[in-house]
Amino acid sequence: MSEQTHKTVIAVDGPAASGKGTFAKALADRLGYAYLDTGSLYRIVAWATLERGGDPTKLEDVKTSLPLIKFPLGPEVLKNEDLRRPEVDEAVPKVSAIPEVRAIIRAYQAAFMKDPPGNAPGVVLDGRDIGSTIAPNADVKFFVTADAEERARRRFEQQKDSNPGLTKEMVLKDINLRDEQDRRQAALALHPASDVCVLDTTKAKPDETLEQGLRIVKAKLSVNDNSSGNSSVNKKKIAPKPPGFRL
Ligand code: C5P
Repeated sequence: MSEQTHKTVIAVDGPAASGKGTFAKALADRLGYAYLDTGSLYRIVAWATLERGGDPTKLEDVKTSLPLIKFPLGPEVLKNEDLRRPEVDEAVPKVSAIPEVRAIIRAYQAAFMKDPPGNAPGVVLDGRDIGSTIAPNADVKFFVTADAEERARRRFEQQKDSNPGLTKEMVLKDINLRDEQDRRQAALALHPASDVCVLDTTKAKPDETLEQGLRIVKAKLSVNDNSSGNSSVNKKKIAPKPPGFRL
């Protein structure tokens, strides 16, 4: 049984290819917290629906994939490379627009926050609606962003070897389309709320962003860095949460 009744929650939101996943994962590692890439849950539903030949816009087709979202899922499921295929990229905003899908994934996220793997003292969740909907009382909220051109450049660098026909223009078009689809959903915060810390990664290296984030976390909570590899987190909060601020 968990010794703590409250787990520290860090919300990391932001648009596609903003660097939020890299930041959130590294932050969780340094703090000894459990990490959840919530986009991968939506991707599992989209991928499984396509595998069955279903239409990702139709609830009756998508419904059969929902039992897959059973807590806890192992890394072999969450990190499956197939979830990053271009056809999944295209289908995922369609399944994520279905309220029944969001409800199931919301329940998964609640279970993760309550009972994190390894009984970690805290969790870092990355996604689109974490600070606004999933964990509105999160201890720290980040919004990680970057210019669309820079996000497209990064995605292009990641994908060009596996997809020789790809151009930067195609990737930029896809990023703009995904931003537009995400923006159409009221639940998905593509703009930071007032109580979040904005990290603009356009010109920053991943380790600079991580250090900025850690400084913010340390200022808000009394936590020990895990850079030595020893997980140690002091859950005692030293001060009430300050109002949100921009860097
Ligand atoms: O973060 P990632 O690019 O993997 O997210 C894929 C898609 O999943 C997003 O474009 C969005 O449509 C959906 N998503 C969501 N809510 C989240 C995370 C992702 O609707 N919390």
